[in-house]
Amino acid sequence: MNHEIVLLSGTSHPGLAEAIARELGVRPGIRTITRFPDGEIEVRLDEPVRDREALLIQPTGPPVNDNLMELLTLADACRRSAAARITAVVPYFGYARADKRRGRREPITASLVAQLVEAAGVDRLLTIDLHAPQIEGFFRIPVDSLTAVPTLRQAIRERLPEDAVVVSPDTGRVAMATDYARRLGLPVAILHKQRTSGTETAVTHVVGDVRDRPCLIIDDMISTGGTIARAVEALLGTGARPEIVVAATHGLFVGEAWKTLGHPAIRDVFVTDSVVPAQSDRRLKTVGVGPLVAAAIRRLLGGGSLSELYHEVPDFHRLEPS
Ligand code: R5P
Repeated sequence: MNHEIVLLSGTSHPGLAEAIARELGVRPGIRTITRFPDGEIEVRLDEPVRDREALLIQPTGPPVNDNLMELLTLADACRRSAAARITAVVPYFGYARADKRRGRREPITASLVAQLVEAAGVDRLLTIDLHAPQIEGFFRIPVDSLTAVPTLRQAIRERLPEDAVVVSPDTGRVAMATDYARRLGLPVAILHKQRTSGTETAVTHVVGDVRDRPCLIIDDMISTGGTIARAVEALLGTGARPEIVVAATHGLFVGEAWKTLGHPAIRDVFVTDSVVPAQSDRRLKTVGVGPLVAAAIRRLLGGGSLSELYHEVPDFHRLEPS
């Protein structure tokens, strides 16, 4: 049975919601989201959702807790108003890094968030480059994690020297680096990152030949910029050419991130518009994921295969103004 779509966004990223709505040829649904003086969130749906296919567009980037709560309350409102099905489109999934216990007496917050999303009534989750694929296992509802690697690769290709090496900044990103390398026809190097304190990390080994080569450092996300800055230092210390391009799916750029990323060897920083960056910089190049998400939604609703998405819709490389 085909249900009419109602596309509702939280306040996290209205621009992305509009881009997705445009691609799908629907108008954004009408809702009101306000804050009580004490900070509590009030959500009201201003049009019927009964028997409609509800799409909730809400990346849970900073302020993470507020954006998450908006998503949960929107889902609850849709469930109580008898939506036929609720799909949460969360291009950036906050708390994904809290996916395991590193010591005693710690929560697994990514798992807790998964339970909250389900309890709120979400039937299906669509996300992009989930920090760790096994987070899908925290959910009992279907989870589809798209990848922005083909989208970013198209944009990066023109700015990347032919003799570049793709660098994974830690062992967690090796599969992603290998995917970039395969698509770009380049070799891979891997950095061994170790945590030196609660907030500090250091690169102890560089595995692979980077001497005299420009580098493409890839990551799933940039938050404070610390991981990329440590990677740049390690690569230059091993003799890499001071010509570095950075690509990450989610660009948060919180706090002093651009200062941390101030090394002159960093030429360009490519990200998608999965979240609204806290701050921008002249080196930032942003690629829109609206067409990718919309194409995936069309397939989810129409029963098509998501794995064929990247073959059939290759034009995901549009640059949006930063
Ligand atoms: C770590 O496992 C992630 O993949 C990123 O490398 C990290 O979270 C980026 O954060 P920051 O920019 O604060 O170093």
